[in-house]
Amino acid sequence: MKRVLCGVFCLICASLAHAADVDSLVSALTHREKVRLVIGGGWGSLFSGFNIPFCGKQQVPGAAGVTHAIERLGIPSVVMADGPAGVRIKPRQHGKTAYATAFPVGCCLASSWDVGLMEEVGCALGEEAAAYGVDILLSPGMNIMRSPLCGRNYEYYSEDPVLTGKLAAGMVRGIQSRGVGASIKHFACNNQETGRMHNDSQVDSLTLFDIYLKPFEIAIRESHPWTVMSSYNLLNGERTQESRWLLTDVLRRRWHYEGTVISDWTFRRRTRRQIEAGNNLMMPGDALQRMDLKRAFKEDAGGENMLDTCVKRVLQLVKKVQKAREERSTGRPRLEEHAALARRAAAESFVLLRNEGSTLPVSPDMRIALFGASSYDMVAGGTGSGHVNAAYKVNLSDVTGSSAGERLKSEYRRWAKGNKHRYKAAGFGFMQKYLGRGALREMPLKQEWIREALDSADIAVVTIGRQAGEGRDRERSDFSLTVEERDMLRAVSGEAHARAMKMVVVLNVSGVIETMSWRSLADAILLVWCPGQEGGNAVMDVLTGAVNPSGRLTMTWPMRLEDLPSTRNFGDGDVTRYEERDSVGYRAYIASERIPAYGFGYGLSYTTFSEDTLPDGGILVRNTGSTAGRHVVMWMNDRCLSSFRKSRLLRPGEEEVLRE
Ligand code: GLC
Repeated sequence: MKRVLCGVFCLICASLAHAADVDSLVSALTHREKVRLVIGGGWGSLFSGFNIPFCGKQQVPGAAGVTHAIERLGIPSVVMADGPAGVRIKPRQHGKTAYATAFPVGCCLASSWDVGLMEEVGCALGEEAAAYGVDILLSPGMNIMRSPLCGRNYEYYSEDPVLTGKLAAGMVRGIQSRGVGASIKHFACNNQETGRMHNDSQVDSLTLFDIYLKPFEIAIRESHPWTVMSSYNLLNGERTQESRWLLTDVLRRRWHYEGTVISDWTFRRRTRRQIEAGNNLMMPGDALQRMDLKRAFKEDAGGENMLDTCVKRVLQLVKKVQKAREERSTGRPRLEEHAALARRAAAESFVLLRNEGSTLPVSPDMRIALFGASSYDMVAGGTGSGHVNAAYKVNLSDVTGSSAGERLKSEYRRWAKGNKHRYKAAGFGFMQKYLGRGALREMPLKQEWIREALDSADIAVVTIGRQAGEGRDRERSDFSLTVEERDMLRAVSGEAHARAMKMVVVLNVSGVIETMSWRSLADAILLVWCPGQEGGNAVMDVLTGAVNPSGRLTMTWPMRLEDLPSTRNFGDGDVTRYEERDSVGYRAYIASERIPAYGFGYGLSYTTFSEDTLPDGGILVRNTGSTAGRHVVMWMNDRCLSSFRKSRLLRPGEEEVLRE
């Protein structure tokens, strides 16, 4: 009986809250309730889930955070969960499995250059979030890839602001179309993990607006994200979360942003300063922050109006959530359809870097001798908050049929057992325990294993794996091959070519690596990034030509790290001076004689295309080859990307006009 009364009480309150507008709710709130509304519900929700009292919200174990409910006024708690590659919650909810789809990571999806695909994946992410009771999905991560060494580049999209902003806008539109809010992050200049809580990014104003803030401006203008997440770091000597210039002057006055600013998951800082800057909601929140605010406003009630401004932004978010909860579907997530989408999205995003003598595609019945630890234990995603508790992942070894060399397979399986051969998972302390294991080190190969495997094969495929993640940047050595990897490529290439057999290299990496010193050993190189749970299937789809690769690089692959000026000022951990100004990525090569190993926008296809400029500026794209494929057109202004479009699938001879 008590539960029934509680439920009825809740419904009455909820309907009251719905009816009441924000201003009348603010007038009805006590000071204590206002303080509770702008401070999140606590760290506890990060791991063990959080019992949401009343108002019908069930707990969502593993969610990243919640806001406080104010039952008296029927204000519900809002549930927030990561992340960019899939909904990160505990895989069991109320005794039932609660798997989410592990989509390809951000840098992989971005390589599709397909805004429509980003939106499609965003819809699926929003649908799964809604199904599990998540109201805000903390995605997309969209910081500029200033250096290849940033540990979280796997979650981000590009070195270019226009490409980043437009792809992020597609993702936000998709997520929010399913009644779930997005959170564009991390605002701003959080371009490294080293010392991320206190590092001061020093950036000149022109570079700041042209390169680092521009993607957020585009995403806000084109997709109206419900929330913006302020970052951990400092910007030009001021914490972003305390910067009234950034969070109010730029975000509100210059860009007219109407949503809610939530902090990244920060321990207690100067809470009053955060409120005064326009950081509307402190996440995940703790009692000390509430004490700070109560004391601050007791000493100086003058700040009440700033508190009310933040309270209104939080209530506006709550109202969006309340409305969305009534309208969005909450059935079980369509995991099978989403797995098919994850497979297609991955294959559409892979980048063909090399294909000598049309090595690829291979016929589906070709016997593949499979080398490389990551062939048998694919790096499906990154570690940290971007990890996804998926039901499974498909390794390349799971789908290469009767792969040659059963002996080799058993040696790799033995190598993968236990963790002794794993790199320490990137990310700090608790992240390693909860989220993801490190990638496997490369297994030293015996020549006899190679020979035996190739004796019963038609082609050799070697996978190079790299994993990265939150809380730690990549070591410089991570950019280069390890001794074991180099030995493996040389040995397999030598044995294969001695048999007039081809060798394909698959790059299952979370960031840019060195390629110049070894790429001539390979007949073909396919970049698959961290392709999500369906990775193995997607790789075979492209290797066999079921899908014609149409991905393009969204960041420069330099010959040497030193070729990128940002390398000189990276990873200090206290102060990072962006002395390169706008010479980020391909922009660094504009005024230089140097050339990259593979340039921004590079990617091969199994067919060929022609581009003809029409009098009205449109581009007539024609498939001049013998296989259906898709083509990306870029418009450059002063040699910087100003717009891009991806064609539909064009059959041989077919054409399409693409316009900016
Ligand atoms: C993390 C990340 C952020 C994530 C949040 C919640 O530290 O920086 O991307 O959404 O905390 O897990």
